[in-house]
Order: sequence, then structure tokens, then C-alpha cells
Amino acid sequence: MSDWTTIDYFTDESLVEDPYPYLDELRSECPVLPLDHLGVVAVTGYQEAWEIYKDTDTFSSCNSVVGPYATFPVPLEGDDVSDIVAEYRHQLPMHEHMVTMDPPEHTRERAILMRLLTPRRLQDNEAFMWGLADRQLEEFLDDGRCEFISAYAQPFAMLVVADVLGVPEADHQRFREGFGLTGTIGEVGAGADGSPGENPLAWLDKWFAEYIEDRRRKPREDVLTKLALATYPDGTMPDVTAVVHTSTFLFAAGQETTARLLAAALKHLAEHPDIQEELREHRDRIPNFLEELLRTESPVKTDFRLTKRSTTVGGVDIEAGTPVMLLNGAANRDPRRFECPAEFRLDRPNAQGHLAFGRGVHSCPGGSLARVEGRVSLERILDRMHDIRLSVEHHGPAGARRFRYEPTWVLRGLSKVHLEFDPVSSPN
Ligand code: HEM
Repeated sequence: MSDWTTIDYFTDESLVEDPYPYLDELRSECPVLPLDHLGVVAVTGYQEAWEIYKDTDTFSSCNSVVGPYATFPVPLEGDDVSDIVAEYRHQLPMHEHMVTMDPPEHTRERAILMRLLTPRRLQDNEAFMWGLADRQLEEFLDDGRCEFISAYAQPFAMLVVADVLGVPEADHQRFREGFGLTGTIGEVGAGADGSPGENPLAWLDKWFAEYIEDRRRKPREDVLTKLALATYPDGTMPDVTAVVHTSTFLFAAGQETTARLLAAALKHLAEHPDIQEELREHRDRIPNFLEELLRTESPVKTDFRLTKRSTTVGGVDIEAGTPVMLLNGAANRDPRRFECPAEFRLDRPNAQGHLAFGRGVHSCPGGSLARVEGRVSLERILDRMHDIRLSVEHHGPAGARRFRYEPTWVLRGLSKVHLEFDPVSSPN
């Protein structure tokens, strides 16, 4: 029987299905714990993770996606490696995306994004979502069964991002085909073998460059034009590449995460007919249901930071140059913060305090969007699918269920959720 000292978090397949006992073990050893593998310090404590998320002076986001696989051409030696990080960060994977930037560059890029995610845009996007949810359900409703992730969650999450960015509806089918949405979307950032993965969205950069260049040449009354003409806070205009990266990263950041949240939601409803009924009767309980899911099944399992200056967190010394692994799913099950943390409680009063969307300057700008996607989807699914059940053929009988999760250390996500249900043909 292996224990935390022998398990390699980055490659151990036993952690894919249920990482929580291992994460509990790490936390009970110490909420800030140096591991033997790849020189990483694992942070499983809520307060400690929160502190690190907030401290951009001490911790850099340059390795936020690839963690310990962010390698520098020179050794990270001394008590302060800020200068080395500044000099070589542009050689690291994903350096062109805001999630790996630090202030002040990050502040500039994020400002462009926030001009796009205005309350008005999000309102229009919600209107689009209600129609999209029904169109998506119509594709398989009459069958009384579906593989929920490929049939609903992935195309829904992808088209919501496309709409936020103002991709014309005429091009939506092209996007579905581009993403190969009858299959699965590639991993962003890192794969199960531990090595950083390719950016599977590189082809999208080309499409968005065409959109942005077109709108800069011939402005129209549309969202893409607003995006193309958005300026930095100092009034200067970003080059096309920067705008393209901001746009395409939304697909990377917003699609699989939300799709896996929706999948976890449907699995939970199918396993708990009582909760399914309760939510059907009391729609106002859907938001807390989603918060509790985000807490217990945090879709982003790990976030990373690089320690720029030697420091102490939770009484543990961390040397400059150390990659720090923030385990959101573990922090969200910290008993010092959440009572009986492994229990799913629909009425948990502090469920919203979870760290599933991170904290601080990088905290997820799509959090409210993901919440609306969840609420709209569940509303329409509960209206149009009654007696939602797990397929015994694919997942086994109650008491001996089988589920496969994506073999990655980045995301926590089911690979497939096969459902059966009684269709309700006319929309309420
Ligand atoms: C359940 C769904 C989602 C989860 C769990 C999630 C989680 C996260 C987390 C933990 C971060 C922080 C990364 C860090 O600090 O290093 C983040 C950042 C980000 N998320 Fe989300 N996200 C979700 C949905 C979305 C959606 C729908 C969008 C947009 C369409 C989005 C766009 C982004 C972007 C652009 C960033 C980078 C922000 C920055 O670096 O300032 N996310 N997300």
C-alpha cells in the first residue's frame, strides 16, 4: 500500500478516480508540505492557499499552468530569483496568456478582457444561453438517453464562449467542427504523462486573427469590433496577437472547466433522485447546489506559483525558486474552513467561500459566466428531462458504479456520463 511519500502526484493513476484520501493525507501531515517529486511544495490548507493566491509580490504566476515543468535555462539560486524570472519567463510555455503574467503586464491584459465581459454583454449572453440550452437538448431528447458530456456539456460551453466573443452564429457550426465536438477537446497545458502538452487551440489563433484584422479594417456594430478596438487603460492599442491570445484563451479556460462542472452536476442529480426532485421543485436552490459542487469537485485541481523570494507560509519555509502547488480541491475540503468537508450539503451556508475560481488578481473572470451556464442548463434540463438516471449498461448497477475521469493532474473531470431519462417534449 503506497502512502503520500511514495505517490508521485503527477503520474500516479490511482489518484485519477479519487484523489481525496491522498489529499487529506497530505493536509493532515501539514497543509504546506514539501514533496519528494519535482521539488514541489503542496498546499492543501485553505488559509495557506488563499494567502499565496493573494501575494503576487512573493509568488509569480509564470508557471501557473505547467507548474514544475517550467524550466529555466539558468539555476534558480539565491533568496530572490525575481530577476531571473523576469529575464526568462518569455521562454516558458503559455507565457503569452494572461494567466501566466504578473502585474503590471497582467493588469493591462486583464483590463482588455474586462472591457469585454461587461454586465450588458453577460446579460445578452444569458439570453443566448436559454435558447442554446433548448437547441442542444432537442438534438438528443427523443432518444431518452445520451452521453451527456459530448451531447450537451462540451458544445454548450464552447458556443457560450463563442457568443461572448461575438462569433457570428453563422460561424458556430464551423467552430463545432473545429473543436471536433463529437469527440473530446484536447488538454490545455499539461498531460497525464507529466509533460507539458501542446496548445491544442493554436488553430483558433488564426481564425481570431482574421476576425480582429477584419474588424480593424472595417468596423461593424458587433462585439468582435469592440474587442478589436479595445484599448489598454493608457489609451494605446494592443497588437492583434495580444487580442487574439486574450480571445482564444477564453476557450481554453472556460470550456472544459464548465463542461466538467455540468457533467459532475448531472452525475450528482442522477445518483440522488431526492436532490433532483428538490431542485425541480425549488429552483432557487440551484445556485447553492452549484457552489457545493464547485467546492467538492473543484474542476481546476491544481494551480501553480513560483516562489520569487524565500518566505514562510503556515510556519513552513519555502525557498525562492520553489514551485508551489495550490490544490484547490484539497483547500476546499479543509475541515478548518468547512464543517464535515467531504459531505455534500445542499444548504451549506459558506459553500460560496470555496477557492474553485482561485483568489486575487487572477481570480477567474469567467466565474459568474460559469455559474449562469450551470443555472440555465439545470433549469432547462430539469424541465425537459424527468427521472434522470445513470445508465447501468455503462456505469454498472447502484452500489457498484464505475466512472472514468480524465487522466490529468490539471483538471478534475469525468470522461463520460451516460444518462437515461424520460423526455418532456414541450418546453415549459
Ligand atoms: C467551472 C468553471 C471554471 C472554473 C472552475 C475556473 C477556474 C479558474 C481558476 C482557478 C482560475 C485562476 C487561475 C490562477 O490563479 O492561476 C481561472 C482563471 C481564468 N479563467 Fe476560469 N474557470 C472556470 C470557467 C471560466 C470561464 C467560463 C471563463 C471565460 C469564458 C474563464 C476564464 C478564465 C480566464 C481568462 C482566467 C485567467 C484570469 C487571469 O489570469 O487573470 N474561466 N479560472
